[in-house]
Amino acid sequence: MNDFKRYLVTSALPYANGLKHIGHLAGAYIPADIYVRYLRAQKRDVVFVCGSDEHGTAIPIQATKEHTTPRAIIDKYHEAMKQDFADLNISFDIYHRTSDPLHHETAQEFFTYLHERNELETKETEQFYDEATKTFLADRYIKGTCPNCGSDRAFGDQCENCGRSLSPDELINPVSTLSGQPPVKRKTTHWYLPLDRHEEFLRQWILEQHKDDWRPTVVGQCKSWIEGGLQPRAVTRDLDWGIKVPLKDAEGKVLYVWFDAPIGYISATRQWAMDNKRDWKPYWYEKDTKLVHFIGKDNIVFHCIIFPVMLKLHGNILPENVPANEFLNLEGDKMSTSRNWKLEMRDYINDFVKQENGGGQCVDMLRYYLTQIAPETKDSEFTWKGFQDAVNSELVSIFGNFVNRTFVLMHKLCGGKVPPFHNDIIDDTDKQLITDIASAKEKIESLIEQYKFREALYEVIDLSRKGNQYMQKKEPWILAKKLAENPAVQQQIDNSLHLCLQLTANLAIFIHPFLPSTAHTMLHMMKVVEKMLDWDNAGKMKLLSVGYSLREPRLLFRKIEDTEIAAQVEKLKAGLVKATTENTPTEATDNAPAPVKETIQFDDFAKIDLRVATITAAGKVPKADKLLQLEVDLGFEKRTIVSGIALHFAPEDIIGQQVVIVANLAPRKMRGIESNGMILMAEDKDGKLRFVSPAEAVASGSGVS
Ligand code: 2FM
Ligand code: ZN
Repeated sequence: MNDFKRYLVTSALPYANGLKHIGHLAGAYIPADIYVRYLRAQKRDVVFVCGSDEHGTAIPIQATKEHTTPRAIIDKYHEAMKQDFADLNISFDIYHRTSDPLHHETAQEFFTYLHERNELETKETEQFYDEATKTFLADRYIKGTCPNCGSDRAFGDQCENCGRSLSPDELINPVSTLSGQPPVKRKTTHWYLPLDRHEEFLRQWILEQHKDDWRPTVVGQCKSWIEGGLQPRAVTRDLDWGIKVPLKDAEGKVLYVWFDAPIGYISATRQWAMDNKRDWKPYWYEKDTKLVHFIGKDNIVFHCIIFPVMLKLHGNILPENVPANEFLNLEGDKMSTSRNWKLEMRDYINDFVKQENGGGQCVDMLRYYLTQIAPETKDSEFTWKGFQDAVNSELVSIFGNFVNRTFVLMHKLCGGKVPPFHNDIIDDTDKQLITDIASAKEKIESLIEQYKFREALYEVIDLSRKGNQYMQKKEPWILAKKLAENPAVQQQIDNSLHLCLQLTANLAIFIHPFLPSTAHTMLHMMKVVEKMLDWDNAGKMKLLSVGYSLREPRLLFRKIEDTEIAAQVEKLKAGLVKATTENTPTEATDNAPAPVKETIQFDDFAKIDLRVATITAAGKVPKADKLLQLEVDLGFEKRTIVSGIALHFAPEDIIGQQVVIVANLAPRKMRGIESNGMILMAEDKDGKLRFVSPAEAVASGSGVS
């Protein structure tokens, strides 16, 4: 650690196409902020860069959705995201943006450098083209039927129903989302980064050199990429939104967003250096710089394989580590923007931080919980109940309680001043506490340097727990009752509160990288300056001078009430219902009713055996957001039916419901479950689904004609 002269820490540049949620915050921003605050407390030379990722198809797509221009979209979301990060105390040294001319220049220079040295290849391929709008179609602009799950709303890059990654060629009946017409194939030439030429370098660098210090999840993903055989990757696109390819024969072509975005870390550093009259070059060229990228797991290939190859070819340093996090789920389901199953940072800020009893302590409560459940080794889960428990039973009852008790008792029993420590009566309990403080420093340091922030935070809370145990053992309030008969017990009271106060000062240093606002409230109570938070002071027992008078305590954390979390869960569910309604396709944009299908003969209709059935059991199908597995009773037999209604009905609400089913439909396997029949549903123009059922209860199995 000490071999590095300077540190450059980056957090993934978020797309400026919408507000970001707490999964993003937990993945790439809070961990980086903890790390950086720790390094700053150690007085290291560190620069923390981030900014908005403003290119790629995500931006024009959002502009279409919002009936505005790409420029208006990036301006709006750049400012909003910057504000959200500031509100949550993410302490970037610069929050830049990739639409900035300095970035365009930096990215073009990078491309030219590689091109001039023949490190790029050109290749002609056939790509989908929309003749009506005269545009090459990015994968996201092609829609069709998913070959995996049959959803008719799959995109050319992914099916959002089943989650499968796709290529446009795999779609059944592809159409352009721009014109609604089937696209044609047309020839186009692009520049490629030949990753295959660098396989040996990557194998050596990641699978040998970093196999032990990078997270196993990161090494594992890289290994499967490398062993799967690396292919040349296109670094240009046919698009009109992006950074122009700086070559004469490249009309209508821009740099691929994943080529330009990571270069955004470099341009942000350049801008920071200009703003602060510093030299940016050592941060990107000197081997004694430690470069660390904080990202989510979906960005691993770009930061561990593609960007490092670009950096190597361009003569830059390589990242020392890429501590990627897994995903954070929310209340039992994966977060999803399209289904509105998410908690945006902005929502938390409005509902907690900006409220009367909010402020810095609510910021820290979220930072605490997101670190406590950080998906460092596997996916983890945010629940409002978990948030409430973490705040009430750890922050309030352990950490806050210790600091508060110490201050209240110091005011009551020591006249509001730091009492002296009487060395001659030191006992084993005191010595143990002093040792615990010193060893906490070692542990926390080592854990942070290994990017194990969850465990490091646990150690901080554990130390405050030890403080409570110490206080409980010493019971200065009981000793105080003996003062009248034996004034000498004051010395024991002094010693216990002296140590509790020194521990409080240490806790402020330890908690600072994680909960900066809390640390500052503690500084205020102790009437000491920021300098006390220097990491060098950690483990010391003379941080507060004897006789120094301290302020009255402030409550560090408030409790989270049951009503608050119930309201949040309610809000989340209401959002889901809204999104389900909004996202249901009304492909004919005028909302006209679908035309009546082709005429059939009575005999055709008579082939369909419709029956009334009663739902007797219902449950979600694992890993299928929309599917419920239903058990239905037909009177003469029971059946299993899999139905795509999970977003419309909670399983527990539909038990006992009578429905009409197609009883003679051939069995079909969905997610490995055999479905025997189909439930009839009525769907209105907003996509709201309702059961078709008899107006009054009838015997299960009754025919419908
Ligand atoms: O996944 C994303 O949100 C990307 N915008 C991250 C880019 S990180 C870096 F390369 F800029
Ligand atoms: Zn699918």
